[in-house]
Amino acid sequence: MISYVINGGKELNGEIKNSGSKNSALPILATAILNPNPVVFYNVPDIDDVKTTLKILKVLGCKITRECDKITISSFNLKKTEIPEELMHRCRSTVILVGAIVGRMKRATFSFPGGCNIGARPINLHIKALKELGIRFTEKQNKIICATKTIRGAKLQLEFPSVGATENIILSSIYAKGVTRISNAAKEPEIKDLANCLKKMGAKIYGAGTSNIKIVGVNKLNPVQYKIMPDRIEAGTFLCGAAITHGKIRITNTNPSDLSNVLYKLKEIGCDISIKNNEICLKAPKKIKSISISTEPYPGFPTDLEPIFTALLTKAKGTSKIEENIFENRFEFCKELSKMGADIKINKNGREISIKGVEKISGNVVKSKDLRGGASLVLEGLAAEGKTVVEDAEYILRGYEKLDEKLLSLGANIKIINK
Ligand code: UD1
Repeated sequence: MISYVINGGKELNGEIKNSGSKNSALPILATAILNPNPVVFYNVPDIDDVKTTLKILKVLGCKITRECDKITISSFNLKKTEIPEELMHRCRSTVILVGAIVGRMKRATFSFPGGCNIGARPINLHIKALKELGIRFTEKQNKIICATKTIRGAKLQLEFPSVGATENIILSSIYAKGVTRISNAAKEPEIKDLANCLKKMGAKIYGAGTSNIKIVGVNKLNPVQYKIMPDRIEAGTFLCGAAITHGKIRITNTNPSDLSNVLYKLKEIGCDISIKNNEICLKAPKKIKSISISTEPYPGFPTDLEPIFTALLTKAKGTSKIEENIFENRFEFCKELSKMGADIKINKNGREISIKGVEKISGNVVKSKDLRGGASLVLEGLAAEGKTVVEDAEYILRGYEKLDEKLLSLGANIKIINK
C-alpha cells in the first residue's frame, strides 16, 4: 500500500513545469496502433495510466522505447487484437484502444474497462457508435469481440458529448470508407489534441474542438513527431494547492486558455491571477471567498477539478455549493475530508454538496477512493494542522507525475511511503 505522509501548514511557493496531459496522452498513444510507421511522442507524462497503456501496446506487438518524456513506438509488427483483462481493468481509458485496434485490424477483443469509482461509467455510447460504423459485437465468457470486414463512414449523433466515445469514433473511422460525421461531439481540448496529432499523420479530420466533427477516411498514415498538450487538470490542482496554503505559484509550459473557466473561479474566490504566454501566476488571498460551481462538459467547469475545488472551499469564508453534472457518484472523497474537520453536506441525490468553510483543518489518516478525490485529500493535508496520511495513493499515481517531488520543490513537507 502506497501512502503520502504530509505535515501540513506550509505555504506552497515557487515555480513548477506543467506535465503532459494524461487525458491526451492516452488516446494519442492509441494512434500508434493505427499507424504502422514509427511515431514519436514528446511530453508524455510518467504516470501509471501511461504505463498500463504501454504494457497493452507491447502485448499487442508494438516496439516501444522511452527516454524521459519522449516515447517512440512502432506497431509495424502488430499481430494480437486482444486486450488482456487484467490490464483492461486498470484504467477506463483502455476502452479507447478498442477503436484503434479495430480501426487497424478490423477485429478487437476486450472486456469492460476499469477506472475510477465515480459512477456507473457504461460504454453504451461507444458500442452504439461503433455498431453504426458497421462493426459487429458479440459477447463470449465475459469477453466482448468486435469485428467487421469494412468500417463504413456514417452520421453519428451522440446522446451525451462523451469524451471517450468521441475519441473512440475518431480512432475507428480514420481508415473508414467514406465520411463519418459526429454531432454533439465532446469539445474538450484533448479531443483537439488527438485530432491534431492524427492530422499531422495525414488523417482528414475537420471541426475537432466543436460539436460537429467530420472525418474523411484515408488509406494510410505517415510517420509523425508530436508533442502532447499540457495537463490542464494538473495545472488546476497546483493552482488550488497554492491557494489553499496562502502561497504564490508560477506554472510554466501550460496553456492558460484551456483553463479559462477555472481561472475565472479562482479570481472569484479572491486569487490574484496573471497570465503571460504559456505561464500562469497565482497569488492567494489571506481569506478565500465562498462560490458556487456547476460542472459541465468543456468549455464548462471540468468535473475532474470538482474534488480539488471542494478541498479548497473547505477553508473559504461562508458556504459554497458544487453541483456535479457529469458523474453520478463523485462525492465519496467528501467523507474523508470530513474526517479532517471539513463541514460538507451531500444533497440532491448525491449530485450537489454544500461546503461550509471552517477555520481549522486537522491532519488525520484518510483513504483515496479515486484519482482526483485522492488528490483533494493531499491538498487538504497540505492545509491541515499536523500530520495527514493519505492511504491508497496508488489511485493518485495513476494520473499525477511526480506529485510529491513537485510539492516538495514548492516547500511542502510530504513523502511517499510504500508498505
Ligand atoms: C474522460 C476523462 C475524465 C473526465 C471525463 C469527463 C479520460 C481518460 N478521462 O472520461 O478524466 O472526467 O472525460 O470530462 O479522458 N457515459 C455513458 N455511456 C458511455 C460513455 C459515457 O453513459 O458510453 C457517461 C459517463 O458515465 C459519464 C458521462 O457520460 O457520466 C461522461 O463520460 P465521458 O465523457 O465518456 O468520460 P470519459 O471519457 O470516461
